[in-house]
Amino acid sequence: MFESKAGVLLVGGLGFFVLAFVVMALIPMTIYYGEPEKTIDDLAQDGILHEFTQLAERFPEQFGKHYGEVNYKSYGEALELGHKLYVGEGCWHCHSQYIRPVSNEDRRWGPRSYAWEYQNVLQRPVLFGTRRVGPDLIREGARKSNDWHIAHFYKPTSVVPVSVMPEYKWFFDEEGYPNKKGMAMITYIQWLGSWRQEYPYWNGEGPTTQEPTPTPDETTVARTNDSVDHESTIDGHGGAG
Ligand code: HEC
Repeated sequence: MFESKAGVLLVGGLGFFVLAFVVMALIPMTIYYGEPEKTIDDLAQDGILHEFTQLAERFPEQFGKHYGEVNYKSYGEALELGHKLYVGEGCWHCHSQYIRPVSNEDRRWGPRSYAWEYQNVLQRPVLFGTRRVGPDLIREGARKSNDWHIAHFYKPTSVVPVSVMPEYKWFFDEEGYPNKKGMAMITYIQWLGSWRQEYPYWNGEGPTTQEPTPTPDETTVARTNDSVDHESTIDGHGGAG
């Protein structure tokens, strides 16, 4: 087998394939095996988003019809439906939900992604995405108001004239109010990144005294967010995630 170049290449090729599988699949699997995955109820208990309450206040009649009252159950329901729509409508064809620690991505979209952030049912299937026709959305929460999203989903070019994002008219009722789907989609989008302590002050806007989210293994990564105190990042161990 090793007499010919082809044999060496075959063994080498297969060897690297196996190595990649071990490093990128088996090792991470053994590290995270048995880590509990957050359910919808767990996520709802983390706290009801202000934006969800605001939808109820702004559109009381429609909200009442679709979701009843603001509580953990209705909030969880909206998150779950929003996630389903995100998958079903193919938003992930154009949007990623993963900020890589390269190419200064954290300067564009916010703090880089960590594995623990994806340990929940709303990342099943994982929605990292493979293309970025539009921006990354994993830190989208609270960047824009509900009203902005309403205008944007109804007609993206009304707020971003050069947008190629499709219109989602079926997120609205005949009178133009967001319907059950629309409210769910906005809730889900506003939730993205809300588990981070930097939220909603992405890219260093807002109070600079905030400590970044403590995570299990964030200690080795240098942050580029200049407004955040680097010392506290390094000591930032905690029970989150
Ligand atoms: C054909 C590709 C495409 C699809 C499909 C698509 N988008 Fe977009 N999206 C874009 C582009 C391009 C932008 C940037 C221009 C703009 O803001 O409209 C964008 C922007 C956005 C923004 C604003 C981000 C920001 O902060 O500026 C949100 C939120 C968003 N999309 C959500 C969605 C959701 C949810 C879906 C599915 C229901 C979706 N998109 C489907 C291309 C797409």
